[in-house]
Amino acid sequence: MQLKEVVPLGRTLTEYTAMFSLNKADLNKNILDCGGGPSSFNYEMKMQNKEVITIDPLYQFSKEDIEKRIGETFDDVMAQAKSNKDDYIWKNIKNVEELAETRMTSMKLFLNDFETGRNEKHYINAALPYLPFKNEEFDLALSSHFLFLYSDMLSLDFHISAVDEMLRVAHEVRIFPLLDLNTDKSCHVEEIIKIFKEKEMQVSIETVDYEFQRGGNQLMRICKN
Ligand SMILES: C[S@@+](CC[C@H](N)C(=O)[O-])C[C@H]1O[C@@H](n2cnc3c(N)ncnc32)[C@H](O)[C@@H]1O
Repeated sequence: MQLKEVVPLGRTLTEYTAMFSLNKADLNKNILDCGGGPSSFNYEMKMQNKEVITIDPLYQFSKEDIEKRIGETFDDVMAQAKSNKDDYIWKNIKNVEELAETRMTSMKLFLNDFETGRNEKHYINAALPYLPFKNEEFDLALSSHFLFLYSDMLSLDFHISAVDEMLRVAHEVRIFPLLDLNTDKSCHVEEIIKIFKEKEMQVSIETVDYEFQRGGNQLMRICKN
């Protein structure tokens, strides 16, 4: 991973809770966040005495380097959101100013926690489709805005290997959203449903109480029987 190709953006615990329909019991599970990036989910969970492990290849870089890269890219990302504002539903987040504040608050919480959290092994430098964990170490593995979103760049085989690996280390996988970067349904969704049903997993698509990317209000849940 080259840092100059990364556009870091992080979401909050409130957003994770809504995107993944996390209820009280879910929040008490052993959770692995795959591709958590500069999200504050891990830190905000820690503040509630809950331990989440987050993996991301971004964590090979230093706090200073990640912070610098956020500074280099943030204004452009917000300008793009402004010029493409019809692609988004401005309900939970009311306007671009609120979006900027929410994302920046989340990333600052992450940055302040990153070095401590990395020493505590809460943030681990790893990349799908390989996870440095034992079988069944987690109850729940999450992917927010990584799988499906980059379907133009990541093949179906990559998605199958990534989900297989997440199911090796966790009992259940949830992926949100099912859209790609053009806000179209990912070309891999139907194949993934078919393939994992053939592997005798329970696969369901569920509508959630969160929609920011227009049409992005569904998660995929894949469970071992
Ligand atoms: C759009 S960000 C989403 C961050 C966070 N999950 C959220 O929703 O706020 C996508 C993340 O995927 C990470 N990523 C890229 N390649 C990856 C891989 N092979 N395995 C896991 N994460 C990866 C990136 O570094 C980036 O932090």
